[in-house]
Amino acid sequence: MTGIVHAVYDMCVYDAEVCDPPHRARVNSSMNSSSESRRGKMSNVFIHPLAVIDQGAQIGEGTKIWHFAHVRSTAKIGAGCNIGRDVYIDADVVIGDRVKIQNGVSVYHGVTIEDDVFCGPHMVFTNDMYPRAFSTSWTVSKTLVKRGASIGAHATIVCNVTLGEYCMVGAGSVVTKDVPPHALVVGNPARVIGFVCKCGQPLRREIRRTSEAVTLHCEKCDTDTVIPMNDYMKMVR
Ligand SMILES: CC(C)(COP(=O)(O)OP(=O)(O)OC[C@H]1O[C@@H](n2cnc3c(N)ncnc32)[C@H](O)[C@@H]1OP(=O)(O)O)[C@@H](O)C(=O)NCCC(=O)NCCS
Ligand SMILES: [Zn+2]
Repeated sequence: MTGIVHAVYDMCVYDAEVCDPPHRARVNSSMNSSSESRRGKMSNVFIHPLAVIDQGAQIGEGTKIWHFAHVRSTAKIGAGCNIGRDVYIDADVVIGDRVKIQNGVSVYHGVTIEDDVFCGPHMVFTNDMYPRAFSTSWTVSKTLVKRGASIGAHATIVCNVTLGEYCMVGAGSVVTKDVPPHALVVGNPARVIGFVCKCGQPLRREIRRTSEAVTLHCEKCDTDTVIPMNDYMKMVR
């Protein structure tokens, strides 16, 4: 517990709303100093009194961080995010704006999350392809989650992959390869079974096809999405 103190929430440096009941914040001891400079950066941030935010962590305007979350000192979280209960944000992780991270998710070193991403409850990132408990040197393998992607509950993302823009990973899937933009993947290992619109709706109506691409129409939001033929051919059924 070295370096960690329990502080009365009123003394905390954030300009955050205080949850009811306003018990205690668990913050690094150094947070008792230089409150002025941090106030500017953290306006309108909501930090639940039972969250742990290490000094130096950057948290954008309007972001909410809930019970028992832990944000490491070199992490950067954008504006308008929702960081759920029991979420862990590791050192050097970068998270964009309006990202929703549901309860129980650990975002490990090596993971980058762009704007508007949804991480479903208890999904899992990884960052060590060949883990050993006794290894003294290991390589961090990266994961990039691109803008607008959604990851279903309890999915596992094996590292060294990119999840394309607006793709959707089904609940419980195990992703082992890059996921094309707008692709819908399910299963273990996850396979492309279709494509989804930016609005999240499965795209079931084909309206145009060339040798280069297939255009799919969304009945829900009345927009077309063009899927490059290389990606379309990855669909298994
Ligand atoms: C993947 C998903 C988007 C598919 O929705 P859909 O397009 O309506 O798909 P369907 O229900 O028509 O299912 C199509 C096929 O995929 C299968 N399937 C659907 N979801 C699956 C999943 N997560 N894993 C494995 N297979 C799945 C279905 O059993 C069906 O198989 P079949 O054709 O052999 O019968 C949805 O099932 C899902 O997992 N959503 C994520 C939910 C979630 O985790 N939300 C988090 C916030 S609470
Ligand atoms: Zn749509």
